[in-house]
Amino acid sequence: ISLTPFNTFGLKQDCDTLIDVTSKAGLIATCNKLYKENFPMLILGGGSNLVFTENYQGSVVKVSTKGIEITSDDTHYYLTVQAGENWHQLVEFCLEKKIYGLENMALIPGTVGAAPIQNIGAYGVEFNLFCHRVEFLQLDTGKLTTYNKLQCEFDYRESVFKQRLRNLAVITQVTLKLAKKWVPVINYGPLQHFDSSTVTAKQIFDCVCQIRQSKLPDPAKLGNVGSFFKNPVISVEHYNTLKASFPNLIAYEQPDRQFKLAAGWLIDQAGLKGAKVGAATVHQEQALVLVNLGTATGRDVCQLARKIIDAVYDKFTVVLHPEPRIIGSQGEVKIK
Ligand code: EPU
Repeated sequence: ISLTPFNTFGLKQDCDTLIDVTSKAGLIATCNKLYKENFPMLILGGGSNLVFTENYQGSVVKVSTKGIEITSDDTHYYLTVQAGENWHQLVEFCLEKKIYGLENMALIPGTVGAAPIQNIGAYGVEFNLFCHRVEFLQLDTGKLTTYNKLQCEFDYRESVFKQRLRNLAVITQVTLKLAKKWVPVINYGPLQHFDSSTVTAKQIFDCVCQIRQSKLPDPAKLGNVGSFFKNPVISVEHYNTLKASFPNLIAYEQPDRQFKLAAGWLIDQAGLKGAKVGAATVHQEQALVLVNLGTATGRDVCQLARKIIDAVYDKFTVVLHPEPRIIGSQGEVKIK
């Protein structure tokens, strides 16, 4: 079965079986059964953070569960959303219901169930700011468990689901907590021109959509998985040394006094815009994005990524780490 329609990079690989599940009970039963039978399985949301390098020799479980329930108390709305809901559609749904807060994360591809795994974020906010609870099936115990925000151990593009529970948790639903008293977040560069006393959530939403559409290629036209690398975080000593040699270095100070660098800038400065391996190339408008010109393979993408990691290391002594998961025939692999 072809995985091409199920990965936004548009890579041409197959899997043995593909099971589309539309109910929570079905999702639980399917995953428990595959796990007990020791059958390799891959949980698939929107396929916007996966790079297939080979045919996958196992079952791909496509999470298509739907449903949004809203409750509230005096101060907050609580939205319990099934894992298969599309993230951007949820952002639009909230705007329509006049529930604000998610607008900075408009147009992030993928599903709601995938959002906690890498703690998606953009334009000054991150998923964890709105996370109340995450419900998941823990495969080794076969039990449905609920974690609160703290237990999810969120960090920049990180969570417990990428660490201790890696490949062990199937997220079934997420509960978001959104304040009734909305406070706009407009500290990120291109949003700074807004006035916090007059700006509307719809204006932020429109602005974010416009910026993303101008910088990030539409996966329907040019296959990609958004940012291919995480922005690297380095020590203040390392930062000072680099800044002395590269005065234009783009960096953001972190609460723990470390510095987060713009990986796109590093790649750009290493002269890699337009660099190519096979039909995989570095995007012209945003060097952090790798695109499929049409016939790229996952191996082309990984070779290009390796070339970038090496070149950036040679110039800046900074190690870039991929953001998407690389999937070989048996499961997740590292870039060679
Ligand atoms: N830059 C360059 N050249 C480039 C790309 C970027 O000089 O080719 C510079 C920009 O001018 C800017 C800085 O680098 O000063 C940062 O670029 P940008 O604002 O585009 O954001 P980013 O750090 O590259 C991150 C997220 C994006 C998110 C944006 C906006 C990561 C890995 N990426 O990108 O998330 O949309 O900020 O908040 O944290 C994703 O994760 O898939 C993603 C798209």
